[in-house]
Amino acid sequence: NKKGFIFDLDGVIVDTAKYHFLAWRKLANSVGVDFTETQNEQLKGVSRKRSLEKILEWGNKSLSGDEFNRLMALKNEDYLSHVNTMDESEILPDVPKILNYLIKEKQPIALGSASKNAQTILERVNLLSKFNTIVDGNGVTKGKPNPEVFLNAAKNLGVEADQCIVFEDAQAGIEAANAANMVSIGIGEKDVLQNADYVFKDFTEISEDFINTLINN
Ligand code: G6P
Ligand code: MG
Repeated sequence: NKKGFIFDLDGVIVDTAKYHFLAWRKLANSVGVDFTETQNEQLKGVSRKRSLEKILEWGNKSLSGDEFNRLMALKNEDYLSHVNTMDESEILPDVPKILNYLIKEKQPIALGSASKNAQTILERVNLLSKFNTIVDGNGVTKGKPNPEVFLNAAKNLGVEADQCIVFEDAQAGIEAANAANMVSIGIGEKDVLQNADYVFKDFTEISEDFINTLINN
């Protein structure tokens, strides 16, 4: 039975949460709304549009459709100014090691991300060529926790959903993986990622033996 390995991007492959934070805080403050690190945590895995909706809800603010769209574009422009400074040094520990091991073992690899900037970021950190397929925020209609992004990734890989393994740092992503009937592997804190099948602090805790059991089970 053929397996598929699906990776989230932000928080799994690179730590872009710090750049999302800077861009959202600047944007929120510009319309007189506070934005904290705790709130930023709650936006992990959440689409750009839904994120701005939440920020405005928290700040008790409502905007016209045009103004909403203008602010989304501004936020992304600012975010991209940070992304454009990224290079390979921002890849999280042991990510290339795991990707290269999977490639050596001839395992199909997909990206499953909510971000519309996924391709740009993978190019910046020089990892684009490691992936057999990229499913990102441009290819889905329903955001995580809806399983659509991971189901599309499985389909593109030509692998049954229940033969896929998902690496995720966000609660919404773990829920999406579970809803898709996939093995969910949380990257981060156990208390946040309670519903994951396995949780590791980062990829330095994941051994080749563990990957082998995933491949062979
Ligand atoms: C990821 C991040 C979220 C972000 C979303 C959309 O899921 O964890 O914080 O809002 O992608 O990213 P984008 O690059 O399209 O604004
Ligand atoms: Mg993430």
